[in-house]
Amino acid sequence: MKFVIHKNKVSWGTVWHIITNDGMGCVQAQIDNDNPNTLFVSGLSVYEGARRRGLATIMLHEIETLAIDNDIERIRLNVDKPKSWVYDFYIRRGYEFWDEDEDDYYLVKYV
Ligand SMILES: CC(C)(COP(=O)(O)OP(=O)(O)OC[C@H]1O[C@@H](n2cnc3c(N)ncnc32)[C@H](O)[C@@H]1OP(=O)(O)O)[C@@H](O)C(=O)NCCC(=O)NCCS
Repeated sequence: MKFVIHKNKVSWGTVWHIITNDGMGCVQAQIDNDNPNTLFVSGLSVYEGARRRGLATIMLHEIETLAIDNDIERIRLNVDKPKSWVYDFYIRRGYEFWDEDEDDYYLVKYV
C-alpha cells in the first residue's frame, strides 16, 4: 500500500495527513512542541465502499512507523462514547485504556 503524506510544521507542532494512494483512506496525526513524545491520532476514516478490507489496519501500521521514525514513544487517540465495536477494534490492535471523560475514551499504545 502506498500513501501520500503531507507534513506541515505549524507554530505549536507538526501535523501529518496520511492518505492512501487510491484516496480510500485517510488519517491525521500530530505532535505538540510541548509534548514531543506523544503522537495524537484523529480522523481515521475509510470510504464506506472500501471498509472491512484491512485498510484502517494498514494505516495504523503506517502511523506506528511514523512514530518510530520520529522517535515518538506513544500514540494516543480518542474514541467516542458510548462504547462500540470501534473501541474493541483498537484494543485488538494493541491500544490500551488510559483515561476517559464525559464524551470520550482516551486510548494509548506504546511503540
Ligand atoms: C473504523 C474504520 C476506520 C475501520 O476501517 P476498515 O478499513 O474497515 O478497518 P479494517 O478492515 O482494518 O478492520 C476492521 C475490523 O473491524 C471490524 N468491524 C468493521 N466494521 C464493523 C462493524 N460494523 N461491526 C463490528 N465490527 C466491525 C472488522 O470485523 C475487523 O475486525 P478484526 O479486528 O477482526 O480484523 C471505518 O469503519 C470507518 O471509517 N468508520 C467511520 C469513521 C470512524 O468511526 N473512525 C474511527 C474514529 S475513532
